[in-house]
Amino acid sequence: MAGFAALAGSAALAACGDGSSQSAAPDGARLSGYGKSMFSTEEKQNALKDIAGYNNFYEFGTDKGDPARYAGKLRTRPWTITVKGEVKKPKTYAIDDLLKFPLEERVYRLRCVEAWSMVIPWIGFEFNRIIKDVEPTSRARFVEFVSAVQPDTMPGVKLPFLDWPYTEGLRMDEARHPLTLLAVGLYGQVLPNQNGAPVRLVVPWKYGFKSAKSIVEIRFVEAQPKTAWEKANANEYGFYSNVNPEVDHPRWSQRRERRLPAFFANRTTELFNGYGEQVASMYTGMDLKRYF
Ligand code: MTE
Repeated sequence: MAGFAALAGSAALAACGDGSSQSAAPDGARLSGYGKSMFSTEEKQNALKDIAGYNNFYEFGTDKGDPARYAGKLRTRPWTITVKGEVKKPKTYAIDDLLKFPLEERVYRLRCVEAWSMVIPWIGFEFNRIIKDVEPTSRARFVEFVSAVQPDTMPGVKLPFLDWPYTEGLRMDEARHPLTLLAVGLYGQVLPNQNGAPVRLVVPWKYGFKSAKSIVEIRFVEAQPKTAWEKANANEYGFYSNVNPEVDHPRWSQRRERRLPAFFANRTTELFNGYGEQVASMYTGMDLKRYF
């Protein structure tokens, strides 16, 4: 049974993974009862201090340290996700409902469009589970994910970095793909707030910005939704945003990447972030340069 166990202190946290980095989320609660996944990479996992210390979460500011600095105030309970739109059974899930789905640990590569990458042991469940629950109608062709806006806890939403709320989207087949995860934890504990607590999307073959954090609403829709980054700059951030070494960002190359904590590029970028075997067939015949 998956569930929470109150964390007694940093000693308990030290028992669940990288003992060198337990201070990154001292208030975290342990998750239990999750299985291992065949979709996990064997690559070396990043330390919790990197995963929870170097973040993009613009609602808390644009500096990589801002989310860890300010997201402690984010209210993550009570929390609900409302699922609506082109579905036969619209539903509102409380976070405890979501934790009843069978949880798995999925160790995925995360590749940011900014050309850095990490390996993160997420805990979550396939988004597919929600799809099966709400039964999309035949008109549902895309899914839109909407992040929370809490003006009193999120200093960034008072500034026009993006057209808040942060929104993202997937095509229906991408949303149904078994690699598409709703994450509720990492490194054996609930998600640190700066990583998108209490629940965020993880789409490992796409640039990290497709993986919306702190989700409050999910809409099944007929037309391709405009994402927050497309609204900000459609020439630089496309709807698909599949990791692709052949398609450069207009301002920098995507051929290589920097696997944290390195300072310089130390790896060649892999098409679909190395998940091509699982996902390439969804894009057969599609011009990936045009639909970037
Ligand atoms: N979700 C929201 N709501 N706001 C954000 O600014 N940043 C995105 C994505 N999800 C972002 C977001 C980007 S650019 C990346 S690379 C990943 O979150 C980073 O996730 P991490 O901080 O857990 O590594």
